[in-house]
Amino acid sequence: MRFLSIFLILIAALALSACAKLTLAWADLTPDGPAAAPNALGPFEGAGLVASVADWENVRAPALREAFERDVYGVFPDGYELSVVKRRVLDQTAFGGRGVLEEWTLSAQVEFNGDAVDAKGADRRDGFPIQILLPADAASPAPAIIMETFCPWWDVIPHPALTKPEGARSLSGGVIGGVATYVFGRHICTPPIETILDQGYALVSVYPDAVMPDRRKEGREELRRLSAGHKDDRTRWGAIAAWAWLYSRIVDAIEDDPRFDRDAMIAWGHSRYAKAALLAAAYDDRIDGVIAHQSGTGGASLNRNKKGESVKSITANYPHWFSSAYAEYAGREDDMPVDQHLLLALIAPRPVLLGNARRDVWSDPNGAFRAAMGADPVYKLYGADGLAQTRLDQWRPSADLAFWIRPGTHGVVKEDWPAFLEFLEAHFAPGR
Ligand code: GCU
Repeated sequence: MRFLSIFLILIAALALSACAKLTLAWADLTPDGPAAAPNALGPFEGAGLVASVADWENVRAPALREAFERDVYGVFPDGYELSVVKRRVLDQTAFGGRGVLEEWTLSAQVEFNGDAVDAKGADRRDGFPIQILLPADAASPAPAIIMETFCPWWDVIPHPALTKPEGARSLSGGVIGGVATYVFGRHICTPPIETILDQGYALVSVYPDAVMPDRRKEGREELRRLSAGHKDDRTRWGAIAAWAWLYSRIVDAIEDDPRFDRDAMIAWGHSRYAKAALLAAAYDDRIDGVIAHQSGTGGASLNRNKKGESVKSITANYPHWFSSAYAEYAGREDDMPVDQHLLLALIAPRPVLLGNARRDVWSDPNGAFRAAMGADPVYKLYGADGLAQTRLDQWRPSADLAFWIRPGTHGVVKEDWPAFLEFLEAHFAPGR
């Protein structure tokens, strides 16, 4: 009975959100108005065209980072402490002998304006856990796929030895799991672990909710508590920035472990966590590559001339994700000093994969493609090949700005991971 009611509530919720959010439209495969695509090297706040890498790195990029903090994501902490308080090997022969499974416990402190506050979990003896799967008998250090997802770790890496809180529920099993998988794809929670390990990649998973809850009230309270030293409410950081900060803390934790390839730290994220993965890489050059799948508004898709989710809608429905300054641009996106092609440009020349689906017009694949076109000149300035396609469906995994689009809707489906792995193979192959 209980299951039946949960099932019905879920179906109703999905139907409602599907009506409201998913249109039956298909994204155009040719960029809308290519002539109007922006250029990341173009004038900005009174300064002219950027002509050299030195100018980009020393002048323009810092100004853009400041503007994104001020107008979109809120201000990052100006200091932090991170420690690995515990490391446990849980299984030397996990997943049929393919991998070594470890669980580490991290403790973090955030500092704004000299005011240091413990991140959630740090006040408890057990901190917050991250899960690590390294390929067994790797001949060379393993590239790391660092993953934040909606799903708790016991769904991301289904293994009985992982610590679970009491009464932990699974999002990937049972009726709920069945429905979630049907709607959002087979890999919405669990990536193809065996294939990833067989191909020599390590998986590092962190559950963002354990640090920054994805709930309006609780999330906002936590963001405020952590940024107590930041007095300006308008530019206080939002959850996307906190999750981006978390990607960087995982790099802190693992980069000195010689089993990882420190030149292949890849931030992987889907949807809201894809926004965070792009932001993390734009501010932290130790992140060597990004797989940002269906990042949409506040991610890769341009705010100007957009289809799907508007600034008004995202800031009304998810007020804890961004700084409140972003909401002020609802309906006047043309006044925004920055747009999302500049976020992609801040990652140049590092490889980025932008994943999309044709029926996922809510996250505006066409706007993401035009953003990639706008970021491309910065890749070219570095001598990288940037975007190597003129249509959305000319998949070129070896390009530094690789754009993937498949049929279907929002989610992580079976065709997505082979594309992600092709991109990884082209740029970050183990032992390359
Ligand atoms: C909602 C939201 C998107 C977000 C997505 C997700 O659809 O409107 O901006 O990307 O959730 O995280 O799945």
